[in-house]
Amino acid sequence: MYNFILTSFLVSTFLVLTGCSSYDDSDQKETFVIKASDKNQIPVEELNITDTVILGKALFQDKDLSFSHSLSCSSCHSIDHAMVDDRVGSNIGASLGDDGNSLGDRNAPMVTYASYSPTFSSVGNTAFRGGQFWDGRASTLIDQAKGPFLNDIEMQMPDIALVVARIMEKEVYVLAFKKFYGDTIFDTDEDAFEALAKAIADYESSPEVSTFDSKFDKYQKGEVNFTDQERLGESLFESSGCFTCHTNRSFGNVPALFSSYSYHNIGVPKNNALRLLNGVSSTYIDKGLSNRDDFNDTAQDGLFKMPSLRNIAVTAPYTHNGGFKTLKAMVHFYNTRDVAGAINPDTNLPWEPSEVMTNRFKRVGNLKLTDEEEDAIIAFLKTLTDERYEVLLK
Ligand code: HEC
Ligand code: HEC
Repeated sequence: MYNFILTSFLVSTFLVLTGCSSYDDSDQKETFVIKASDKNQIPVEELNITDTVILGKALFQDKDLSFSHSLSCSSCHSIDHAMVDDRVGSNIGASLGDDGNSLGDRNAPMVTYASYSPTFSSVGNTAFRGGQFWDGRASTLIDQAKGPFLNDIEMQMPDIALVVARIMEKEVYVLAFKKFYGDTIFDTDEDAFEALAKAIADYESSPEVSTFDSKFDKYQKGEVNFTDQERLGESLFESSGCFTCHTNRSFGNVPALFSSYSYHNIGVPKNNALRLLNGVSSTYIDKGLSNRDDFNDTAQDGLFKMPSLRNIAVTAPYTHNGGFKTLKAMVHFYNTRDVAGAINPDTNLPWEPSEVMTNRFKRVGNLKLTDEEEDAIIAFLKTLTDERYEVLLK
């Protein structure tokens, strides 16, 4: 949440200083607000809430829990779209808030498979792992779920009392909360708010959200074959070292998650186009882990949580600031970050410098892959798409 507050502060400072913003133009606003798809959503009143997963899913999709009744969690994490923000297409890189104006500085990550990130913890003295958000500042899904309601550039509720009051407006919720969390659950706003976060976390942790039914999963079980290109991509994913971070091995009975949830600086450039829109200064540096209020350690500069690569082909734009629009650019970046004169296929211009040069991971950046080999890696990454999102593959 701290980064949002900071971003929001920077945005308002910018507006005060310049006295104008790109959002003053209402025509322009229209181009950003594309309604989140709420296909197949049953009205809350008609739900038969038999467990906390159903309750959590209803809350996740309920726009009445935002100040202007315009945003739900699902607006920025669309259930119909691998739980990323499909309102913004692949052009902006951050999400619009409940007022239709506020724009953050980070890309909404997918909520599918987010429950597999372990609780934030240190590994030895200097390395970190797990947690939620690009910088792990929420340790668990329950902590995370409390943030967006009160965040002043997301759902924009002034306090938890109003969130709880909105829940109590719907009798089905009141009955369900009492049934699952006890008759006294509404005695304090804090208890009811905690229950809200728990129900959402239960839904996010349910098998309905993380289905492990991609072509890759079926291939692992011997149910389908890979094409030659996919098989080549799989072996290049290993020989290029991608798998050392985005692990492709199952762990116990958990299939491969394509992340070890550790923190690294792969050298992502600033997203200058986004900064022009959200008013965050082009000189501001998002240092990831070391930007957290509770970290003051240059060893953590530029480190961001490694995302899972499941559903990656349908969750553009990429990285913490959404600066990469295509998988081709992403893979080409790993291949040529350190090659003088190499061109970003998204912009046809040379790569911009990394936002943070210190602590950059050195074993990527000059992988010497051919164009065909890059395409094979992309073909392999496409096999990581959950069955219900395969229709979104291009
Ligand atoms: C206005 C858009 C927006 C809304 C509404 C929103 N989120 Fe997010 N969400 C984001 C962004 C942006 C991030 C990344 C922020 C960061 O890392 O600094 C994020 C991060 C997350 C993460 C972390 C995932 C990971 O892999 O680290 C989870 C889980 C999540 N949101 C769940 C929710 C829930 C639950 C709600 C509703 C209570 C919600 N979000 C509402 C935009 C939104
Ligand atoms: C040192 C560990 C490491 C290695 C090696 C690595 N990655 Fe990553 N990857 C990361 C981290 C960390 C991020 C997030 C960076 C950020 O947002 O600043 C990331 C982001 C990505 C993304 C964007 C994910 C998203 O949801 O936005 C893709 C795609 C990706 N990596 C693919 C690959 C491929 C393909 C390779 C091999 C060529 C590879 N990675 C090698 C750590 C690694």
